[in-house]
Parts: sequence; structure tokens; C-alpha cells
Amino acid sequence: MAWEECVRVRAPASSANLGSGFDAIALAHDSFYDEVEACVSPRTASTLVYLESLEGPYAIESGGATTALEAARAILERLGVGGVRVSLSVYKGVPPGRGLGSSGASAAAAAVAVSEALHRLLGTPLPGWEELVEAAGRGEAAAAGAPHYDNVAASILGGIVVVARSHGRLTVYKIKPPSGMHIALLVPGAAPGPGKTRAMRSILPRSITLGEASAYASRAALLAAALASGDLVAAGKAMMMDELVEPRRARLTPCYEEAVAAALNAGAYGASLSGAGPSIIALAGGEAAARRVADAMREAYTPCGDAVGVTARPRESPIKPL
Ligand code: HSE
Repeated sequence: MAWEECVRVRAPASSANLGSGFDAIALAHDSFYDEVEACVSPRTASTLVYLESLEGPYAIESGGATTALEAARAILERLGVGGVRVSLSVYKGVPPGRGLGSSGASAAAAAVAVSEALHRLLGTPLPGWEELVEAAGRGEAAAAGAPHYDNVAASILGGIVVVARSHGRLTVYKIKPPSGMHIALLVPGAAPGPGKTRAMRSILPRSITLGEASAYASRAALLAAALASGDLVAAGKAMMMDELVEPRRARLTPCYEEAVAAALNAGAYGASLSGAGPSIIALAGGEAAARRVADAMREAYTPCGDAVGVTARPRESPIKPL
């Protein structure tokens, strides 16, 4: 048996919800990425999972790698593996607290890296996509206060994902992004502070009526159908139909109205918060259009502080060891 196996994995940033698909739809994109190297070695005493190093432009701002450590523990539990030492070296390239799936990217990379390292060291079976998403989602729960699988599913599978839980079972369905799809992101320079996702979830209603649930489902279904059929115009419209989650969060997001209006004026098909915000994602057809939209959003955000306007493409390929 080898003394130690190390596996490095890169996971992309992601934008959850896309307006009308709260906790259900997300897109992986090549704007930013995290990396996790997991080193696994046998250990006769009890299992030890720890953070070896935290580096990268957002290492300090991220304040730790709780989601990655939790995802690593979840993988060990799922596989029933004990008596190992697992060290994680994390590179934080996804700005945290901006709604870009930063904690999800670390959790996704950790789940895949630890699974692969265990497989190489001990011959344990490689978990399926849904098992990986479940394990990484446990890491997310540590950060957000409740599990949500959209960001981790996008980071793990790539492309656009639809996640659904029913009768205790998670299903993840991958949609190929429309061929001409480019995105523009408005990324505020300052994050709202720790616990942002938790806070942005706490303002949402605990219960809704049947009418609201049915209206919500119809809009989310329209968004998924439009994305799956490659219709960017319909997708852009559908992402702006939410009346349940987005308006409540928009009220608390500086310069939301201004940035969304600027995106649409500059030719975006639609725009919404990226995840729980405060970043905003807009759909555009082509790189030049995405650049115009990103610049217009950044300009509109000026009264609210510093921000960058980023263009990106969907990241289509699934996560895999480097
Ligand atoms: N779907 C989650 C939410 C994503 O909107 O709370 C958080 O990044």
C-alpha cells in the first residue's frame, strides 16, 4: 500500500438560482475557481481531517475552509472509511460572500479530491455524482445554515444543473448551456460580511400558499425549459419572473435596480442576483455583448462602491482531478 496519495482538483465558481430557480437551478462558469489538494495516508489511531494550508487571493477574506473540511468528513462517512489522515490544502480564487458559490466550490473540490485519493490509496469505490453532491452539500449546510445543493452540483457536474430532492433522494440533471451563451457578472468589491447566505435565507417566508408554490414552480419550469432548449430570450425573461425570493433580497442589495436596468439597456436578455447576491448575473449573446453589459452594470453600481464587471462562459466539463 502506498504511504500517501495526493490529488488536486479545481472547481469553478457558480451562480445559483438564476432568478426563478431558487435552490434548484445553477450554472458553473469560468470566472473564478478554487483548488483543493487532498493528501490521504493511513493512520492507525482515529481519523484526522485538517487544513494544511489556505492560500490564494481570497484566503484571508474566506476566513477558513469549513465547507471543504466538512465535505471531506462527509465523504469518509459515506465510504465508511476510518483510520486515515486527510490533509487539505485550499486555494481560494472565488471571492467569498458575493454569491458566486465560493464555499460550494471549495466543498465540491474537497469531496472529489478526497474520494479520488481514497480510491487510489485504499481502492474504495468512487462515489457517483449524486453522492458527491450530497457530501459537498453537507459542507454548504455548515456555511448557510441549511443544505442547498445547487452551487455544489454546478461546480461538480459543470454546465447548468437542476437539482431536486424527493422522498429523501437527490436527483441532479445536467443541461447543456445554450451554445451562444455568455454571461456578465457584476461583482462588488466588498462582501456584505460573514453569514450573508444565512442572513439572506432568513428573510424568506417560512411557508407559502399553494397558489404561490404553483406560481413558483411554473416560473422555475419555464426557466429550465428555456435553458434546455437553448432559447436565451425566453430564459432571460423567465429569470426575471420570480416574485417570491428575488424581490425580498433585491431590496437589501445595494444598486440592484440600477445594475439590472443598466444590464437590460445594454442588451442583456435578463439579469438576476447570482445566488444570494450581492453579485448580479446577466445573460448575453456573445463576448462583445457580455462586455458591454458588464461595463454598464459596473458603471451603474458606482454610487454604491467599487465593483468589477466580469465576463465569462459557462464551464461545461465536469470536475476532475488535475
Ligand atoms: N440557492 C442558495 C440561496 C444559493 O439562494 O440561498 C446560495 O449561494
